Amino acid sequence: MWLVGAGPGDPELLTLKAARLIAEADVVLHDRLVSPEILALARPDADLIDVGKRPGGSHTQGVLNELLVLHARSGRRVVRLKGGDPFLFGRGGEEVEVLAEAGIECGIVPGISSSLAGPAAAGIPVTHRQVARAVTIVTGHEATDSDPVDWSAVGRLGGTLVVLMGIERRAAIVTKLVDAGLAADTPAAVVMHATTPRQRIWTGRLEQLPEADVESPAVMVIGAVATFAHDAAALVAAHTLPLDG
Ligand SMILES: C[S@@+](CC[C@H](N)C(=O)[O-])C[C@H]1O[C@@H](n2cnc3c(N)ncnc32)[C@H](O)[C@@H]1O
Repeated sequence: MWLVGAGPGDPELLTLKAARLIAEADVVLHDRLVSPEILALARPDADLIDVGKRPGGSHTQGVLNELLVLHARSGRRVVRLKGGDPFLFGRGGEEVEVLAEAGIECGIVPGISSSLAGPAAAGIPVTHRQVARAVTIVTGHEATDSDPVDWSAVGRLGGTLVVLMGIERRAAIVTKLVDAGLAADTPAAVVMHATTPRQRIWTGRLEQLPEADVESPAVMVIGAVATFAHDAAALVAAHTLPLDG
């Protein structure tokens, strides 16, 4: 059984090992965000099972854990395929624990995380010697009153802030960060559908984020490095000579 990172979306950003294991698998249990182009690398006779959780959706983590154990015990080659890196906000750690408790060995294949690939695909270096010496990656999923994330500490850290799963709660996140002392005019960028043909970039200031025309899946980048954002894909296309040119 393998727990495999599928990277941010572009199939060419899969690791060679991930591509090989997907091609060899009898069963692929995949998240909702794994792109059809990546799933197309599986054998035509492989079972592709979408175990992605949707808001109000059918698969609880408990059911998913049972499915994992069931398939792992089937004797078939099983790949659990997760977006980005399996150990960054992907509950990969919990799934490995469940498998270990069931006595099932699981190999881990790291993936390129959207937290780094998203900014990079928009031309944003998350660290830069002149402006950001540190980067913090945080989930915005639980930005409510009972949020376990200490946003006032996060707001005081300096460096670059990368927020995943934060689009829906961005207004609350901005309020918490500004209350913590982060300047309302701090540069911000949002990279949506990063590394896919649907990639789109929004740039502005922290205070403009609540009203920004943005959608999930997206990575929010807050900090001076956000000013580096540009449509890198368009730039590459503009500088690519036609093959017959
Ligand atoms: C459950 S987390 C999983 C993160 C994943 N393990 C990783 O390393 O990228 C899902 C969040 O990742 C971010 N994300 C994943 N793929 C993305 C993409 N192609 N473009 C922008 N954000 C993405 C979004 O913030 C999304 O809500």
